Amino acid sequence: MKIVFATNNPNKLKEIKALVPDKIKIVSLIDIGCTEDIPETGDTLEDNAFQKANYVKDHYGYDCFADDTGLEVDALNGNPGVYSARYAGPNRNAEANMGKILSELDGNNHRKANFRTAIALILNGNKHLFEGKVEGEISTEKLGEKGFGYDPIFVPKNEKRSFAQMTLQEKGEVSHRGKAVKKLIEYLNHL
Ligand code: IMP
Repeated sequence: MKIVFATNNPNKLKEIKALVPDKIKIVSLIDIGCTEDIPETGDTLEDNAFQKANYVKDHYGYDCFADDTGLEVDALNGNPGVYSARYAGPNRNAEANMGKILSELDGNNHRKANFRTAIALILNGNKHLFEGKVEGEISTEKLGEKGFGYDPIFVPKNEKRSFAQMTLQEKGEVSHRGKAVKKLIEYLNHL
């Protein structure tokens, strides 16, 4: 089975390819010639995931899935949430985004947070939603070099290491995206 993953984020692609069995071939937006920025103007992760998946289906005709992820920090009333990518400004800079959260939580012991992923699948004219969530804490400094986005400042529950200190496999076993992808794969495997 061949299916489009509506992303051009090489890190997400790597993560998902590591979780999906070989019989499901994942192709990215570049592979189908889609290089434009797909609008993400929804108020929720679910809306944005469907907006991206619908865009690919409408403009390119392929069955596809799209994900949207948000980091929800308790002490910031669930922010940045759906605005995670542009939290520190329009240029989606991961260092600036992490810096903003670290300074907002400076001196605050209440550091609980979670990552949440929504995956929207459009297949044979039907729509499906898969979700994954991981709880954890925001560290007081950046830890580790691996991963992407907010990984260096997120320490999942029952761990001392941040996501950026884990291998792809270790992160995938507990992560928001890993959990949502497992549900997606279970669904695809039963078709
Ligand atoms: P989006 O899902 O690509 O829109 O991502 C929203 C924001 O969350 C971006 O700033 C990403 O870098 C960040 N992000 C998405 N997934 C992860 C992850 O697995 N770890 C850390 N940051 C992530």
